[in-house]
Amino acid sequence: MEKEPAPVTRTRLNYDNKLILAPMVRIGTLPMRLLALDYGADIVYTEELIDRKLLRSIRRENDVLSTIDYIDKTDGTVVFRTCPREREHVVLQIGTSDPLRAAEVARMVEKDVAGIDVNMGCPKKFSILGGMGASLLSDPRKATNILRKMIETVTIPVTCKIRVLFSLEETLQLCDTLASTGIEAIAIHGRTIEERPQHPNRNQVLKQISDRLSIPVIANGGSKDIQQHSDIFRFKEKTGCSSVMLARAAQWNCSIFRKEGLLSMENVIKSYLKYAVDCDNSPSNTKYCVQNILRELQESPLGRKFLDSQTLEQICEVWGLGDYCRSKNKEFRDKGLLGRFQVMP
Ligand code: FNR
Repeated sequence: MEKEPAPVTRTRLNYDNKLILAPMVRIGTLPMRLLALDYGADIVYTEELIDRKLLRSIRRENDVLSTIDYIDKTDGTVVFRTCPREREHVVLQIGTSDPLRAAEVARMVEKDVAGIDVNMGCPKKFSILGGMGASLLSDPRKATNILRKMIETVTIPVTCKIRVLFSLEETLQLCDTLASTGIEAIAIHGRTIEERPQHPNRNQVLKQISDRLSIPVIANGGSKDIQQHSDIFRFKEKTGCSSVMLARAAQWNCSIFRKEGLLSMENVIKSYLKYAVDCDNSPSNTKYCVQNILRELQESPLGRKFLDSQTLEQICEVWGLGDYCRSKNKEFRDKGLLGRFQVMP
């Protein structure tokens, strides 16, 4: 594959001293990414998308929503939706086990995203059996082949996200090997594959890695101790890392990125829902994200009303945004939006 030059107008994404929305399956879709940017995140990762799925999608510019959609050729569903507002900030995370497929995906999305990341930390059976995610931690040769091939193919930054290994020495060795490929930065979740979220994050290991590597190290795994914005910097200091990546803290209340302080859950849900409507996000994905903001409050009367809702309009109605949803839907229909799942001609 021949390498194409990146458009001259683009600034290269810098991973130093940044606040980052972590990749989260189903949570990190376009509305949440836009909200995180509004609140002060510098970089937003997509949810992990599997290389094969992206490769069987087709790129479409959606003039009604002003988005760029990658649509599954087989069923017409939106695999990845992005927009110009996030182009200089969004990092697409892929699940892959193959250098050629990974490079092909990177080339396919290169003009629409600021960076591309390989998931090397997912411990789920689906990933491990497919030779993806955390299985790459025990196959550094394959992991480095994937990264090298991607770096060779595209001009946007390539990164990976890993977990720590049980032994410090092995972890440092792995980080040296991965960094030697030319990746721009590395995100590290300070728990091993076996460890669960309730286990302490190995902040000291992150510190040793960041002391050792010359590329930016992105600290991850600190959400349990991050209740307010200032806690982010405590985590950054403890780990000595260049940047901090948040998953659960942002999933629960995305305004954690706001340096002016947290906003109320109601405020965050309303802003999230407006983006969900603007992006024509699917009701099931929207509901899942709101559920993860509401958490135990799903048991409240408002929560139960929300759980009963099925359509985007019904969800919006719970927070007094029914009119907003209806007027946007009308606007989209008038402009000719085909419906959520745009069936290919
Ligand atoms: C995750 N995580 C994750 N990691 C990844 O590399 N790709 C992914 O798609 C996902 N998906 C995902 C979904 C959800 C709902 C959660 C909670 C987590 C892991 C995540 O990015 C992060 O590494 C861990 O959650 C630890 O960071 P926090 O939560 O302590 O900030």
